[in-house]
Amino acid sequence: MIHPEQQRRAYLQAMGIDVWLPRDAGAPAATAAGTEAVAPSAGAGLDWPELRECVAACTRCELAASRSNTVFGVGNEQADWLIIGEAPGAEEDRRGEPFVGRAGKLLDQMLLAIGQSRDSVFIANILKCRPPNNRDPKPDEAAACREYLERQIELIQPKIILAVGKIAAQNLLGTDDPVGRLRGRPHDLGGIPLVVTYHPAYLLRSPSQKHKSWSDLCLAARLAGGSGA
Ligand code: URA
Repeated sequence: MIHPEQQRRAYLQAMGIDVWLPRDAGAPAATAAGTEAVAPSAGAGLDWPELRECVAACTRCELAASRSNTVFGVGNEQADWLIIGEAPGAEEDRRGEPFVGRAGKLLDQMLLAIGQSRDSVFIANILKCRPPNNRDPKPDEAAACREYLERQIELIQPKIILAVGKIAAQNLLGTDDPVGRLRGRPHDLGGIPLVVTYHPAYLLRSPSQKHKSWSDLCLAARLAGGSGA
């Protein structure tokens, strides 16, 4: 296991932070703040291969017409950590894999800092298909895709869900609150602790916010009960 101080340094270095930041020992207890439960979905009962097939053939919304590939998600099907982002971008659409661009590289560094990797966690998105011109997902698109994500959560049974960015957080928690108000405290998604943090693409644009993201990762690690971050 990676020592917490090593993790802290690795993360801060990866994120370009060179100031000392205290680990927030006084973080809130793991009480459920969010209330949104994961409702049983029409995908209930599908196993991994069936679910993959279903997603690959999906035509539930208009994004099916413009996508090159569906982006099912990658990683460990029994992961402790489930990372949920927004939607595939151009590169993800081309490769059929989430978070493979610049933001993805930063996400990889963030994972490394908490002793995780792309192979140890599972990474998915609110949408499995790319919205044209990287526009925000429409509510009907998110709704059409939701049961796939819900089934993935049921199959994985993660110890912690990390929602990266506004779209993921707001969709999962059913709120319009901004990330600034949702981050820094535990939420609950059908009995699974959920932590909100900034999207890596935002962190690339706003490096001054990186230390907050580190604090969120430490909180998530504590809730997951594994890493001593
Ligand atoms: N941003 C996301 O939210 N997800 C991806 O897969 C890529 C970029």
